[in-house]
Amino acid sequence: MECHGENLGGRIFIEDPVVGTLVATNLTDGPGGIGSTYSDEDFIKAIRNGVRKDGKSVVFMPSHEYNVIDADDLAALIAYIRSKVPVDSTHLPETKIGFPFRLMYVLSDIHLFPARLIDHSVEIPEPVAVRTPRQLGAYVATTCIGCHGDNYGGGKIPGVPPHWPEASNLTIGGVLADYTEEDFFRAMRDGINLEGHVMEQEFMPWQVFGYMTDEELSGLFEYLQSLPPRATGSR
Ligand code: HEC
Repeated sequence: MECHGENLGGRIFIEDPVVGTLVATNLTDGPGGIGSTYSDEDFIKAIRNGVRKDGKSVVFMPSHEYNVIDADDLAALIAYIRSKVPVDSTHLPETKIGFPFRLMYVLSDIHLFPARLIDHSVEIPEPVAVRTPRQLGAYVATTCIGCHGDNYGGGKIPGVPPHWPEASNLTIGGVLADYTEEDFFRAMRDGINLEGHVMEQEFMPWQVFGYMTDEELSGLFEYLQSLPPRATGSR
C-alpha cells in the first residue's frame, strides 16, 4: 500500500532530480495493471524472487525482504490483490532512473535490482501453524530492514532523496532502550516518536504499519527489545 497506493493501482512514489521517477506497478487487473496477465506463479516470482514476467529484475521493489513470506501468507496476499477493484493507471509515466542514481548504484549499496541479491534456490517457506510472539515479531520485522538496516541500527537510508531523515536505531543501543510497549504502539499507530513529534508518513510509513494486529505489534516490540544493542547508524 505504501508504494503501490492504497488501492494497489500504482503511483509515483519517488520523483527527484537525483533519483529519477520511480513508479510502482498497478497490481490490479485494470488498464495498465498486471493483474490480468500475471498468473499466481508470476506474482510469486515477482514478490519473492524479484523477477518480472518478462524475466527482468523488478526495480527498487524490496523482494529480498519478502523472500521469507510463507506459503499461506503468499496465497492470502495474492488473493487479496486479486480482490481489489480494477484501476486504470495508463496516465502514469514510466520509471526513469536518474543518471546520478545509476552511478550511485554502481558505487554503493543501493538495491536497485533486487533479483541480483536473492538466492533463487531457496524454496517458499512452509506455513507455520503457531508462532511465539517473538517469532511473529521477527517475521514481520523484515519489512523494517529496507530503511532501518539489516541489523536495525538505523542511519542514512541508501537510495532515497537527500532530504530524508535518517532512520532511527531500533535496538536497545539506540532510542528503543527508552521505549515502553505503549510508546511503541503510539509510534506505529499514530506516528508519534519518542520525542513526541509526528513523523512524516512519506519517510516512516506508520499509517500502513498501523494495520498490524496487537499481537504482531507486541511481538515486534518484544523481538526488537531482544536484539543485541547496535551503534546508531550501523545499519
Ligand atoms: C520507508 C522507510 C521506513 C520503513 C520501511 C520503516 N521505517 Fe521506521 N523510521 C523511518 C525513518 C526515516 C524514521 C525517522 C523519522 C523521523 O525522525 O521523523 C523512522 C522512525 C521510526 C521510529 C521512531 C523512533 C524514534 O526516534 O522515536 C520507530 C519506532 C520506527 N521507525 C519503527 C519501525 C518499524 C518497527 C518498522 C518495521 C515494521 C519500520 N520502522 C519501518 C523509516 C522507515
